[in-house]
Amino acid sequence: MLSYRHSFHAGNHADVLKHTVQSLIITALKEKEKPFLYLDTHSGAGRYQLHGEHAERTGEYREGIGRIWQRDDIPAEMEAYLQVVRSYNSGGQLRYYPGSPLIARQLLREQDTLNLTELHPTDFSLLRQEFARDDRARVVREDGYLQLKSRLPPAARRGVILIDPPYELKTDYQAVVDGIQEGYRRFATGVYALWYPVVLRQQIKRLLKALEETGIRRILQIELAVLPDSDRHGMTASGMIVINPPWKLEAQMKSLLPWLHQVLVPEGTGHTRVEWVVPE
Ligand SMILES: C[S@@+](CC[C@H](N)C(=O)[O-])C[C@H]1O[C@@H](n2cnc3c(N)ncnc32)[C@H](O)[C@@H]1O
Repeated sequence: MLSYRHSFHAGNHADVLKHTVQSLIITALKEKEKPFLYLDTHSGAGRYQLHGEHAERTGEYREGIGRIWQRDDIPAEMEAYLQVVRSYNSGGQLRYYPGSPLIARQLLREQDTLNLTELHPTDFSLLRQEFARDDRARVVREDGYLQLKSRLPPAARRGVILIDPPYELKTDYQAVVDGIQEGYRRFATGVYALWYPVVLRQQIKRLLKALEETGIRRILQIELAVLPDSDRHGMTASGMIVINPPWKLEAQMKSLLPWLHQVLVPEGTGHTRVEWVVPE
């Protein structure tokens, strides 16, 4: 079943959080000259049209990137990410949203490499076109979870792994834990960044418990909620679980999240959280 299309949700508050964390991790990895691998297990199409039928139907981007991209009081932690967004929207109008592969492409250097996988036939072909002339990238229509076995450890022994499934299958909640365990067994020093939606809080509690039970240490949780937890249908919050976060990430997100929450949720509902699920 592949009914999920990210084009309906691109640029929403969850993308803003996810891509800010992604860009901070990449920026930290660039502090050393040595190359690294960017592995994106669920890459999506790459570029999203915000005035296309899908994005306009939900209008989610207006309450996400739409609230941020032209502000003049942007905190330093968001600069790298927003520079990428602005580079796709130079006319002063918000027309395109760059997904995780395009953000990585722009932030990575000549010596770094990208491994991108996407299963949906349409999104895969869009993604492949985007990267047709980028020698650093391997773009394949394969199961992203399998990359955690076949592509790790990277030759340079440095890397960031973004795991961003749609969770349209309930099995994704277990598959991400199994995938992380597989990857970590091969590459324990990698930075693993897992995105999650909060639809039912119990599901996330179970996910965190399962991650704790793997025995992996240094697991940081970063969350931004736009609404209180609820039993009703719909995403009230989203978060990133980062294993082996760069040392500055905790402080960066603690400093940024109150501002981001206030800008994204002027009504003040919801919460923010930066907490160790498992410390050192
Ligand atoms: C949330 S979207 C990805 C968004 C993208 N990471 C970004 O931030 O721009 C999830 C994508 O995973 C794809 N997908 C679902 N299951 C997959 C699998 N097992 N392997 C690779 N891609 C998968 C879906 O088609 C969808 O495009």
